Amino acid sequence: MTRAPSAAVAALSFVAAALAQHLPVPPLPYAYDSLEPWIDAATMKVHHLGHHAAYTKQVNGALEVMRADPNMKHLAKMGIDELLHHLDEVPEQHAGTIRNAGGGYVNHDLWWKSLSPWGGVPPTDASPTIQERRFKAAVDRTFGSVDKLKDAFGTAAAAVFGSGWTFLYFNKKARTLEITNTAGHDTPAMDPEKAPLLLLDMWEHAYYLKHQNMRAAYVDAFWHVVDWPAAATRYALASGEVAPEPLPAPDAREKQRVGLVPTDERAEAVAEL
Ligand SMILES: [Fe+2]
Repeated sequence: MTRAPSAAVAALSFVAAALAQHLPVPPLPYAYDSLEPWIDAATMKVHHLGHHAAYTKQVNGALEVMRADPNMKHLAKMGIDELLHHLDEVPEQHAGTIRNAGGGYVNHDLWWKSLSPWGGVPPTDASPTIQERRFKAAVDRTFGSVDKLKDAFGTAAAAVFGSGWTFLYFNKKARTLEITNTAGHDTPAMDPEKAPLLLLDMWEHAYYLKHQNMRAAYVDAFWHVVDWPAAATRYALASGEVAPEPLPAPDAREKQRVGLVPTDERAEAVAEL
């Protein structure tokens, strides 16, 4: 005979389900000070614990109200990525929050994953994983070289007016790499055919503590901590071109990174910032 769950077990199950439907503030995959000197710990802390946490709270608030409404609960169940594909179905009183706070939530989640203490090592024909080598080939086909991609991306970032983001994304329909700027927290991923690979937060909160109005110095610093292998993995998954291989261990990646720029040159670069 099957026994009915006790009231306590049922209550716990409900709480667990409710909690599971709440978006968490994604933990950083590294320490706040580990991107120094390129991105300072103070900026990282206020960005993650202040801004990202606030977007998370706002979008959870809207989702909670939508979940309680029989006419909207099917939307709230979608998950935030899917919901951003269906913004036109979200009632007006929640559409702004879902677009702005929901976009802020997903963009910042990807932002942290786009950076790494072992970053700054662009893909080459001799990169250790197949996805880096394939990504390098795709970049070469579209932009001519990684340096030219960086130039085009940096030019786009410099042109962001007000608060916004610069993206490199894979267009699944056209099967091309493309660069675009978005306003506010919009993301190319609002179109399911577009898969972001790299992004740069051009809101002042991302750089003003350290760089003030020197946006070019911030963009330059960004390249020193970009997690290129993670971008290459996203490219492999979005394009289906190749099954991504596991990334090398952090100590191997650190050797690659330090080997990229001589110590004295790094010190000079730091001093210039
Ligand atoms: Fe931000």
